[in-house]
Amino acid sequence: MVRERMKVLKPSTRIMPDNWLQPIPLEKYFPKAQPVEIDLGCGKGRFLLARAKNHPETNLLGIDRMLRRIRKIDNRLRRRGDENVRLLRMEGFYATTFLIPPGSIRTYYIFHPDPWPKTRHAENRMFNPRFVEALHRTLETGGCVHIATDHLPYFEIINQTMSADARFERVEPFVAIDEEKTDFELWYQDKGPIGRCSFRKRP
Ligand SMILES: C[S@@+](CC[C@H](N)C(=O)[O-])C[C@H]1O[C@@H](n2cnc3c(N)ncnc32)[C@H](O)[C@@H]1O
Repeated sequence: MVRERMKVLKPSTRIMPDNWLQPIPLEKYFPKAQPVEIDLGCGKGRFLLARAKNHPETNLLGIDRMLRRIRKIDNRLRRRGDENVRLLRMEGFYATTFLIPPGSIRTYYIFHPDPWPKTRHAENRMFNPRFVEALHRTLETGGCVHIATDHLPYFEIINQTMSADARFERVEPFVAIDEEKTDFELWYQDKGPIGRCSFRKRP
């Protein structure tokens, strides 16, 4: 009886590559061959989970360095049984630089990246020219990066860095529908402006 009432959990959705030093063959981890999008710094996964449900024609990869957050999202996914979401617990700069294969990503969503507001901590920020290089290398031609942050000084730096790179063109900023808003966006939306910018990789 107890067994009958227990919900059967699906296998873990976490990617555990055989080799952490080589690009990950993403196609091995998603049952369907379809475009891959990355939610980088996926946090508690509100956007990731809603987006995956609303877009079954897309494979979504959530990346975050916090194990606790990745495990919580994984537990929810195992109950829901989504086939188009996978999780990677990894530092974002390392993942984009070494683990994501070249030209394999259609879209990056980078929402509310940690701003490290103190000047002496600025070197910890994920966004820097080498990170932009990794985004460019891993995006498909025509692929997009969507960025949003409540921290306007960091937004200015990101916006300027991306605008100065002639390999990207500015496109209309991405604004999530209510159901897909991230936890940080819900928290900040009534408290002040949110900086948003989006860029497409030129041919
Ligand atoms: C401010 S929260 C935003 C979470 C979510 N994107 C949102 O908008 O609600 C930043 C998230 O990015 C993760 N994070 C910060 N720096 C990271 C890095 N270098 N690599 C991977 N994840 C990172 C943190 O663990 C945290 O979950």
